[in-house]
Amino acid sequence: MKGVVLAGGTGSRLFPLTKITNKHLLPIYDKPMIYYPIQTLVDAGIRDILVVTGGRNAGDFLRLLANGKEFGLTHLDFTYQEGEGGIAEALSLAEHFADGERICVVLGDNIIEGSIEEAVEAFRAQPGGARILLKEVEDAERFGVAEIVGDKIIGIEEKPKQPKSNLAVTGFYLYDEHVFEKVKGLKRSERGELEITDVNNSYIADGTMAFSYLKGWWTDAGTFESLLRANNLVAETKGKTESDD
Ligand code: G1P
Repeated sequence: MKGVVLAGGTGSRLFPLTKITNKHLLPIYDKPMIYYPIQTLVDAGIRDILVVTGGRNAGDFLRLLANGKEFGLTHLDFTYQEGEGGIAEALSLAEHFADGERICVVLGDNIIEGSIEEAVEAFRAQPGGARILLKEVEDAERFGVAEIVGDKIIGIEEKPKQPKSNLAVTGFYLYDEHVFEKVKGLKRSERGELEITDVNNSYIADGTMAFSYLKGWWTDAGTFESLLRANNLVAETKGKTESDD
């Protein structure tokens, strides 16, 4: 399985922090944000990784990450998203890299305490389709929200005003080779983007979407509040691990 980190976008919710750099290069405690999703993939046993970036600071990613030596990798792939077309549009740029294999997609601002390895293994055992990771949250209206009936997921609503559950769809997505056909069939949403939630709902409609629950804390880092939370959570977790040593 190959890994794709989506690290484009304008980061407008973090302006002026993102006026002169890309959101994913901002610090989370002692490392640039982009380090965390790459480490999540590497920890799940995925070593063939593409970073999709964009904007005016794309060159900084290459300078920072080089060939991934800090992660024990010998190579990293990079590609460039022109404009601001949404998560699913950024994903479509990974088609050439995926080359018919299954992929694990990670949003570049999603930071976790634990590991996604169990979900990756469960997806390897699936005949095909897709798998997402869900997490209970208190502010579900900020996310894609899953509706579960029995042991089935029946739909996802993107940032609903009245969420049908407290289960956020986290930014970790496992897809089979059909994901790129699905992206090509999407229409732009009201905000002019190709939405990842529409890709996921298409798998749900096919009856091939599975899900896992993410253990440990999870946060995004795309707003001032969540960026601060991400810093605090990483600092606390590091503090605990270091005092255990
Ligand atoms: C995106 C997705 C949303 C998901 C979230 C996870 O939201 O659209 O479904 O729950 O990432 O971080 P965005 O960060 O673009 O607001």
